[in-house]
Amino acid sequence: MKALVLSGGKGTRLRPLTHTIAKQLVPVANRPILGYVMNHLQDAGIKETGVIVAPETMDEVKKYLGDGSHWNLEITYITQEQPLGLAHAVKTARMFLGDDSFVMYLGDNLLGSGISSAVKAFQEGETDCRIFLKKVSDPRAFGVAELDEQGNIIRLVEKPKIPPSDLALVGVYLFSRAIHDAIDTIKPSWRGELEITDAIQALIQAGGHVKGEILDSWWLDTGKKDDFLAANTTVLDQYIKRIIKGSTDTESTIEGRVEIEEGAKITKSTIRGPVVIGKGAVIDNSFIGPYSSIGDNTFIKDSVIEHVVILKNSRVEGVIRLEDSLIGRNARVTKGKRLRGALRLMIGDHSQVEI
Ligand code: DAU
Repeated sequence: MKALVLSGGKGTRLRPLTHTIAKQLVPVANRPILGYVMNHLQDAGIKETGVIVAPETMDEVKKYLGDGSHWNLEITYITQEQPLGLAHAVKTARMFLGDDSFVMYLGDNLLGSGISSAVKAFQEGETDCRIFLKKVSDPRAFGVAELDEQGNIIRLVEKPKIPPSDLALVGVYLFSRAIHDAIDTIKPSWRGELEITDAIQALIQAGGHVKGEILDSWWLDTGKKDDFLAANTTVLDQYIKRIIKGSTDTESTIEGRVEIEEGAKITKSTIRGPVVIGKGAVIDNSFIGPYSSIGDNTFIKDSVIEHVVILKNSRVEGVIRLEDSLIGRNARVTKGKRLRGALRLMIGDHSQVEI
C-alpha cells in the first residue's frame, strides 16, 4: 500500500497568507498541517509516499518534508505543472503508483483520528474505493454524497449548487488500481478540473465496489480563515500539554496547558492555556488568552489577545484587545502615537479587517 499526498494546487482561499506560504505548510498549533498528515501515514505503517508538489511552492514543501525519514517514510516528489484537479494529480503520479493500491490524502485536511483502521480494513477487504463522509453545515463547498436507505452511495457530486445531502467527502480516499481506468473515462468539470469525485462516480457506474463510511472523529478542511481558527482551537484542545522550555519571570503567571518552546521569554505577563508559544518569541506585559498560537520569534508587548493565530516574526504592540484573528508572517499590529483615534493601515491584497 502506497500513499499519495496532495500538496500542490493554489492557495487562493487562504489569501493573503498563502501568497507567501504553501497552504499545506500553514501551521496549526505551530506545526505545519503536512506534519500531521505524515504522522497519520507513519502510524498506518505506510512507507512509500508520493508527494504532489506545484512548481511555485515545491521548494518550501521539500525543505519541510525532506526525504521523509523524520516520519520513517520514503518520499518521492512528483511535480504537477498545473493544478488541473485531484484526479489529474493521480494521473500525474501514475508511474509512481504502478498497480498498487494507495491512500490519497489531501495535504490541507486535518483529521482527529488517524487512518490506521481504515487502511487495515481496506487491505483486508475487496473494495475498489473507500471514502469518508462527514456532516457539514454548508455542503456546497465540498464533494457531496447521496446515500440510499441502506447507506450505499448512489451518487457523488462536486460542489453542488443544490446539495443532495449534508454529507461532505473528507479529503482521505483509499483506492485500488481500478481508479486509474475510471479516471481515463472522465472529462474536466465546469471549473476546468479533472475531479476525483467524478472518477469515483464513474467507478460506481462501472460496477466497482465503493464503500463510504461516516467519519466519527472531527475533520477540518483548513482552506478558509474561520475553519483554520477552528482547526487551531481543536488541535490546541487535543494535543497541548504543559511543557515549559522557555523562560518566565517571577511577575508572570502561566495557567493550565501552555507549551513554551526553547528560547521564548515571558515577562510581566499572564498566559492562560491552551496556548502554544514558539521558539524565541517574546511576550512582555501582556495577556495571552486561551486558544492562541504564537509563532517563532514573534514579539508581543502591552497587549491583550485571545483566540488568535500569529505566525512567525510578527509584532503586536499596544493593542488593547485582539480576538478571533489570523496574522501572517512578518506582520505588524501596533498602536499609533498621535492618531486621536484614527487608523493607519497597510493591508495586502485580499485582506480582511474588522473595526
Ligand atoms: O477538503 C475536502 C474536499 O477537497 C472534498 O470535499 C472535495 O470533494 C475535493 O474536491 C476537495 O475540494 P477542494 O476544493 O477543497 O480542493 P482543493 O482545490 O483545495 O485541493 C485539495 C488539496 O489538493 C490541496 O492541498 C491542494 C491539492 N491539489 C489540488 C488540486 C486542484 C493538488 O495538489 N493538485 C491539484 O490539481
